[in-house]
Amino acid sequence: MGKGMRWDSKPLPLHYKHNHIFVKFGVSILLLGLAFRLLSSDSTRISSVLEETHTPPLAEAEPKTDSPVVSQPIQPPLSSVFPENETQTSEIVAEKCDIFMGDWIADESGPAYTNESCHVIEGHQNCMSNGRPDSGYLYWRWNPRNCELPRFNSERFLDLMRNKSWAFIGDSISRNHVQSLLCILSQVEQAVEVYHDEEFRSKRWHFPSHNFTLSVIWTPFLIKAAIFEDLNGVSSSEIQLYLDKLDEKWTEQYKDFDYAVIAGGKWFLKTAIYHENNNITGCHYCPGKNLTELGFAYAYRKALQLVLNFITSNDHKAFVFFRTTTPDHFENGEWFSGGNCNRTMPFKEGEVDMRDIDTIMRDIELEEAEKAVEVGSGYGVILKLLDTTRLSVLRPDGHPGPYRQFQPFAKDKNAEVQNDCLHWCLPGPIDSWNDLLMELVVNGEKYR
Ligand SMILES: *[C@@H]1O[C@H](CO)[C@@H](O)[C@H](O)[C@H]1NC(C)=O
Ligand SMILES: *[C@@H]1O[C@H](CO)[C@@H](O)[C@H](O)[C@H]1NC(C)=O
Ligand SMILES: *[C@@H]1O[C@H](CO)[C@@H](O)[C@H](O)[C@H]1NC(C)=O
Ligand SMILES: *[C@@H]1O[C@H](CO)[C@@H](O)[C@H](O)[C@H]1NC(C)=O
Ligand SMILES: *[C@@H]1O[C@H](CO)[C@@H](O)[C@H](O)[C@H]1NC(C)=O
Ligand SMILES: *[C@@H]1O[C@H](CO)[C@@H](O)[C@H](O)[C@H]1NC(C)=O
Ligand SMILES: *[C@@H]1O[C@H](CO)[C@@H](O)[C@H](O)[C@H]1NC(C)=O
Repeated sequence: MGKGMRWDSKPLPLHYKHNHIFVKFGVSILLLGLAFRLLSSDSTRISSVLEETHTPPLAEAEPKTDSPVVSQPIQPPLSSVFPENETQTSEIVAEKCDIFMGDWIADESGPAYTNESCHVIEGHQNCMSNGRPDSGYLYWRWNPRNCELPRFNSERFLDLMRNKSWAFIGDSISRNHVQSLLCILSQVEQAVEVYHDEEFRSKRWHFPSHNFTLSVIWTPFLIKAAIFEDLNGVSSSEIQLYLDKLDEKWTEQYKDFDYAVIAGGKWFLKTAIYHENNNITGCHYCPGKNLTELGFAYAYRKALQLVLNFITSNDHKAFVFFRTTTPDHFENGEWFSGGNCNRTMPFKEGEVDMRDIDTIMRDIELEEAEKAVEVGSGYGVILKLLDTTRLSVLRPDGHPGPYRQFQPFAKDKNAEVQNDCLHWCLPGPIDSWNDLLMELVVNGEKYR
């Protein structure tokens, strides 16, 4: 990665082309300082520029019909436990499915909560309250191809979680995700916020009648990082990233968590100076610095190896999900050049390809997680992949777009407003991530 690349500023075609093998970060990287505001901004801030480099499409991710096969059950397959019972074996094998392969199907029942019933929806993601005019995006359900995915059952979930503790560990998409869970659970019990950090990025809630604790920890790199951004996300200096040190913000609390949902991703695209062994070893996109360009993929892989090794070798045995990278859907331009996401329907499988950046990141995630699952299973750690990338690629209609702001067109219907095509409306498609989480907690051994 990182060499011989071209910048292509053409609007992204609906059908992403497949002829670009490399990605040019040039122009987009220059703007990255501003770009990532949303990932770091808190709910009270009005930030104007969206995150993320938008790269022209890479080679098409081949339409894989096989599964990413990473979230394997810790137990040996039943077929090897009961080899003598042919009937039983074949039935169970037939039952196994990849719940991440499927389609979005129309679902009249609609979301489990609304802007009225849930009070913890961050302003930027509260599409209903902000005046998003269409509501069709609320009436879809993820339908795995070869098995049933039940809707999230809040009562059952809270009963299972009595005296337990969960953490969502990652960037602002993890906060987006935890808010979805809080909203779904609020049908049964309202959470009490018991902690927040100064910037309201990390929080903790308690469900008193179930003695269930839910946390979100903001650690966008998962590893140690010095980030020099002001409150608007404008960077005054390069990020210093320590590729051989974990971020203690989450590792110090790790032993308290029975379950964790960990995710990395987009922050690794930013300009950063890489440190290893108390020494600067290179960087990602730092022209003029006379440092070796190591590429974000190098840093991301190192970081994931460190994170996953910490989990699999830890004395504390948690049930850990690693969530794969989340796609965005800027079209008709980039995040900084008027890109938007005004579709109102999901894509069907085959109508869209995963973008280059997402393919690169997810491939690293699958490879590293697959190795860690094997290692972890030997140590009694349950590690599963929450492979939401592909199903999320199919939901261009689920982002706030201009409705990250309250009534963006109230004064001027042609107003030029910054779009958010990365985070997800609440309610919205991200609610399905929790359907998947619950099913994997309850029936994980059923899936490949
Ligand atoms: C095999 O499995 C079937 C279905 O679960 C069960 O009815 C049957 O008793 C089993 N046979 C043996 C030999 O375990
Ligand atoms: C919820 O959204 C609707 C529009 O969908 C709006 O009329 C209503 O005022 C919103 N309620 C709150 C509490 O924001
Ligand atoms: C939860 O903890 C309380 C107090 O320690 C204990 O009495 C109760 O049995 C526990 N419940 C479960 C389901 O573990
Ligand atoms: C709540 O759960 C914690 C374990 O997470 C346990 O130590 C504590 O005793 C429980 N408290 C009550 C009141 O059940
Ligand atoms: C520090 O990194 C540079 C560049 O990679 C290398 O040449 C040098 O030997 C390293 N120094 C130490 C003390 O590791
Ligand atoms: C870049 O670094 C190399 C070795 O670290 C050094 O030989 C070279 O002079 C440096 N170039 C500039 C322009 O500083
Ligand atoms: C979506 O945005 C594009 C470009 O900004 C515009 O041409 C198109 O008409 C929009 N579609 C809808 C349905 O608003």
